[in-house]
Amino acid sequence: LAISPFIASLPKVELHIHIEGTLQPALRWKLAQRNNIPLRFKSQEYHTYEELLDSYNVTYNHRPELGGRKDVPTFLEAYFAGCEVLLTEDDFYDLAMDYLARCREMNVRYVEPFFDIQAHTRRGVPAEHVLNGYLRAQRDGASRYGVRSNWIFCFLRDEPVEDGEAAYQTALPWAKSGHGLFHAVGLASNAYERPPILFKKAFERAQADGLHITTHCDFGQKDTHEHIRQAIFDVQIERIDHGLDVLDRDELIAGLVDRNVGLTLCPHAYHRRTATEVLFPKLRELLDKGVKFCINSDDPVYMHDVWIDGNMEKAYHYGGLTKQEMVQLARNAVDMCWADEAVKKDIY
Ligand code: ADE
Ligand code: ZN
Repeated sequence: LAISPFIASLPKVELHIHIEGTLQPALRWKLAQRNNIPLRFKSQEYHTYEELLDSYNVTYNHRPELGGRKDVPTFLEAYFAGCEVLLTEDDFYDLAMDYLARCREMNVRYVEPFFDIQAHTRRGVPAEHVLNGYLRAQRDGASRYGVRSNWIFCFLRDEPVEDGEAAYQTALPWAKSGHGLFHAVGLASNAYERPPILFKKAFERAQADGLHITTHCDFGQKDTHEHIRQAIFDVQIERIDHGLDVLDRDELIAGLVDRNVGLTLCPHAYHRRTATEVLFPKLRELLDKGVKFCINSDDPVYMHDVWIDGNMEKAYHYGGLTKQEMVQLARNAVDMCWADEAVKKDIY
């Protein structure tokens, strides 16, 4: 689907993107050489650039009876395998600057990228390399490209809560009250049997530190309605990342509307495994029911290279939304973002 001039020129705000999900194969290849690291997934090594490109054809699961393949990584496995080339402060800086340069090209004016510090510290990478690399990119991205960013620390929800809390304590000097890198915390990685309530204390601590809170409630996952219910009513989250399953339950919709909680949706991520005629009418339904949402990209490099502009084009084209409605969605992102009011005014 080609990006129309209307979508290309629309001023954009991106609120759901994992920075590690923007690591493009060319930079990954370069960093592997620079750091002398083999490119691989489990026992499979990628010896040529073509083999590396092939590895982005991921599977949804490893169970042949569900159509999966055992020899191919799942999406999350591919994502964490990609992370392995990131070691030094410069690596994290280069990753983030690549992304912020691309934002400028897409007329993305402000972003709130997620980062998974535990994906790196658990490999033995010092936390300062990650945090200082992103911090330097936050500053240079704003001055060089005019793209401002406030970052979101993600707990890996499938790791022990205590590990996440320890990582958070290490990162705290880089939070809003310190160096100013991140203004919020969220939950990422595999949600299977890892409901938001497990992190309630961690969220409360972050709020006490002056940070905003959000959580992933992945579309179609096991226990998705219960996860959304906990997020809205028990943890009292400020935004939900995905959360499209709210449409099945009136009480969840009412909870979102009453509390002005918005959804950061990523249409292409769902379109990978949902029929067009099932998925896109849901956007219209959300608009009709007064649920606030915005359009984002999630992990563009591991999702067929579809970025925020491609996601917006899909909503526009398949969702049958008007130009006015697309502008409203772009404005919703400004409304939902956690920039200072002065910055918000400057974005639009
Ligand atoms: N971490 C990175 N990308 C993710 C996604 N799409 N869902 C859950 N966790 C993630
Ligand atoms: Zn996500």
